[in-house]
Amino acid sequence: MTPNRDELKRAAAMRAIEEVEDGMVLGLGTGSTAFFVVEGLGRRVAAGLRVVGIPTSERTAAQARGLGIPIATFAEYQTLDLTIDGADEVELGNLDLIKGLGGALLREKIVAAASRRLVIVVDQEKLVERLGEHTPVPVEVTQFGWQATAVALAKLGCITERRYTAGEQPYVTDSGNYILDCRFGPLTDPGEVENKIAMTVGTVESGLFVGRSSMVVVASTTGLEVLTPPSAARR
Ligand code: A5P
Repeated sequence: MTPNRDELKRAAAMRAIEEVEDGMVLGLGTGSTAFFVVEGLGRRVAAGLRVVGIPTSERTAAQARGLGIPIATFAEYQTLDLTIDGADEVELGNLDLIKGLGGALLREKIVAAASRRLVIVVDQEKLVERLGEHTPVPVEVTQFGWQATAVALAKLGCITERRYTAGEQPYVTDSGNYILDCRFGPLTDPGEVENKIAMTVGTVESGLFVGRSSMVVVASTTGLEVLTPPSAARR
């Protein structure tokens, strides 16, 4: 029988967890795929694995606590051994990412930047030739002046859309900011766009993760594939 999407996500998560070693400080990702990672880690912790996790969202923190995974903060650890997280798009080849459709991009990027290794877990539908093919670039912006920030972002060549909750309220992140989803279309130079967004006053962080992936575990109907980026600079 062909595995469904959740089974693929779980399979990728289980492979990624093999990278976890006793004593590690872990970054715990956010999203429906990262959920399976935390679930699997919980089982290993129950079986005796000793790790601590820094969650990338309140949602993940609650899940980890419920499973008995010890939670830590940046007050105790400023460097993490390994972060396992999902992604919304993965560019084939360089393994650059778009993240943040789940709204946790700021904490995800802080945690990823502090990690020695970032392992990404996805199903095959997330792989693209060019970032931006299917998804907008989520940009976290301050509430103050968000309308002016939206105009400035649009000048970079995108269509901006303020994110709302299912209840039609403005979406507010765990850090109290708004999200503008910026539709650029396929990006030829994601690094340049990431820098331009970062230079735009009022932005806090973007969901472009360029040059950060150490490994991507892809689950497809034909099995698991482990991809590594061409440059081993920060792996
Ligand atoms: C959360 O903010 C995101 O970056 C998620 O990691 C990303 O959206 C992937 O989520 P799914 O695994 O639910 O597709």
